[in-house]
Amino acid sequence: MRLDYLTIFPDFFAPLELSLPGKAAASGLLDLGVHDLRQWAHDRHRTVDDTPYGGGAGMVMKPEPWGEALAEVVRPGSTVVFTTPSGERFDQRLAEELSTREHLVFACGRYEGIDQRVIDHAREIAEVREISLGDYVLNGGEVAALAVTEAVVRLLPGFMGNAASLVEESHAAESGGLLEYPVYTKPRSWEGRDVPDVLLSGDHGAIARWRRAEAVRRTAQRRPDLLSPSVLDDGTPIVRAVPGDAGELLTLQRACWVQEAVANDMLAIPALHESLDDVRAWLGEWDTYVVRRAGRLVAAVRGRLEGEAGDTWDIGRIMVAPDLQGSGLGRVLLDHIQAVAPPAATSYVLFTGAASARNQRMYKKAGFRLRPDLPAPPGAVVLTKRRGR
Ligand code: ADE
Repeated sequence: MRLDYLTIFPDFFAPLELSLPGKAAASGLLDLGVHDLRQWAHDRHRTVDDTPYGGGAGMVMKPEPWGEALAEVVRPGSTVVFTTPSGERFDQRLAEELSTREHLVFACGRYEGIDQRVIDHAREIAEVREISLGDYVLNGGEVAALAVTEAVVRLLPGFMGNAASLVEESHAAESGGLLEYPVYTKPRSWEGRDVPDVLLSGDHGAIARWRRAEAVRRTAQRRPDLLSPSVLDDGTPIVRAVPGDAGELLTLQRACWVQEAVANDMLAIPALHESLDDVRAWLGEWDTYVVRRAGRLVAAVRGRLEGEAGDTWDIGRIMVAPDLQGSGLGRVLLDHIQAVAPPAATSYVLFTGAASARNQRMYKKAGFRLRPDLPAPPGAVVLTKRRGR
């Protein structure tokens, strides 16, 4: 594989000589080229940026040096990777895909980004990927290019000493995309902490089962978004809400709680009065799931751990668009939110209107019990259920 880097900070790539890619280069597996973009800037100051058309803060990278650089470095079969916070999110699947390419050209932007025409032009002469390391902003694309390089290069055949460790590690497609299980080495006991007995048992079946269970437990706790989504009978997935869902959630919430207000003859229901900012705020504090049909957000539910011991899974905001109520969607969401409760949850709690007969029927059918002994807001009742193990 050949790797080229276009940057105004070539020194950033000195670590490539030290680390895994350096070793691969020494063994002939990799061919590396680092290029200072300023060599293609021809004015006295070797200028690579200018002010943005349309105004706004910061500077934009000029197209001419990039055009010349790409003309020199790109060849048939190249993939040009623009590292940018507005790109597709980098993950192991993308690393695996890039590891199949013959030639990667990393174009590292700085400032407010690169003139869009450069990217449009690159698409005409090569495959182009715009890649982001994650939802945060770095000062430039160099660190991202290094991270992508390391993730890709270690997947090249013949690169890692132990190919099996590639299969087992976190995020590998072969391990079902789960996080890796915890690992231990000698000594058997350290500072009063012992290695789990099962790992010393010599029972390979038991060890494999324990590792799988630990991988699932860790993933459910730290990255529930990586677990396969639940699906409705017709295959529609139940997916995690994203911040961009706030507007539709607000609309759905208003529609559903107007009905609640009418059924309970009261307007003092928090869900009815929340603003868009309120919904955005709670989206950050609750695990929220949504269902979309034909692009439209039609149902949602949220849950979070509460209680002094943090062992009660508080379920709320089960909402189904008025035209789809009675179709069983609410019950499916109720089952889903119980299933994704973290391992710490030993019981479930939810609130509903004292006069919301239909909701109460559904909750009772699902095993919840009315708890008049527990405090509830005015006009509401509380229902709980123990978590089955
Ligand atoms: N350049 C600046 N921020 C970045 C990010 N998050 N990912 C990739 N390139 C970047």
